[in-house]
Amino acid sequence: MSTPSARILARLRSATAPVSGEDIATELGISRAAIHKHVDALREQGYQIDARHAQGYVLTGVPDRLDASELGPRLRGAWRTIDWHATIDSTQRRAHELARGGAPEGTMVIAESQTAGRGRLGRVWHSPPGVNLYLSLILRPPLAPAVVPQLALVAGLAVARAIEEQTGMAARLKWPNDVLVGDRKVCGILTEMDAEVERVHFVVVGIGVNVNASEEAFPPDLRDRATSLAITTGGPVDRAGLAAAVLAALEGDYARFLAAGFSPLRVEWEARSALSGRTVTVRAATGAMTGTVAGLDDDGALRLADAAGGIHRVLAGEVTLAQ
Ligand code: BTN
Repeated sequence: MSTPSARILARLRSATAPVSGEDIATELGISRAAIHKHVDALREQGYQIDARHAQGYVLTGVPDRLDASELGPRLRGAWRTIDWHATIDSTQRRAHELARGGAPEGTMVIAESQTAGRGRLGRVWHSPPGVNLYLSLILRPPLAPAVVPQLALVAGLAVARAIEEQTGMAARLKWPNDVLVGDRKVCGILTEMDAEVERVHFVVVGIGVNVNASEEAFPPDLRDRATSLAITTGGPVDRAGLAAAVLAALEGDYARFLAAGFSPLRVEWEARSALSGRTVTVRAATGAMTGTVAGLDDDGALRLADAAGGIHRVLAGEVTLAQ
């Protein structure tokens, strides 16, 4: 059962004309004084609510926040549980904690800022407040642990689709985990799992999208490699709209992936690949290799052609352009 504040907000959101306090009071079965108190509380949470004389209340502004109140009504799929934080060390850490406690698939941890955002390979994910998307999603896929890295490809594809839907810009994918606009990174994905050798307990898919960060918000050493959607589109991007689009695309692509594996998604992934035909160096724990990218295999492995035309499959590694 939703709270009186949530019901007042829902009523004002759907209204096309001012709504009188009396009408809301009757609908909710509480006094007008109580309505007034809830409206004040909503204002304190950042909602702009005009009280128009002899007409009623009008919602004129909502806070730019990715909590259940703002993001919840925009979610389109079955994943709806939001664990929101104004600030947190890392949404990944929190998602692991919730998952260990039994949180179901689709539970999402979202923060407005992170003090210890985690990137791949032990790096730091720069997480300034109120401008970007920091999301960790708990999944419980019935998969073998070896297949789990493919989920990072699925997530990247979903983020690319969401960016295209929300901004109209083409998003490209840099194997395995990065989403680029132009030649710069706008999103990083960190997939972590808790598993036994043969059984996955849970996966946490961490998604960081630079949405409205300004150039100055990036550390100087990142400015030539990273950008935000707002910088590239030239105007602010609706964060809740983008978050909802990411989750809708990911829920759909995840279902397709569980039903039929990565292979049906491969063509869509490759159509957005930033690396096809380019010469790259891949550094992995086992060593480095340079070659020309010849697409992906059905299991998401990168196909690298050597100078003699021989194809090498790369399952994991860090890619840099060799030229
Ligand atoms: C990368 O290195 O490219 C991956 C970055 C992943 C960052 C996201 S932000 C939300 C989630 N919480 C974290 O601490 N990291 C991931």
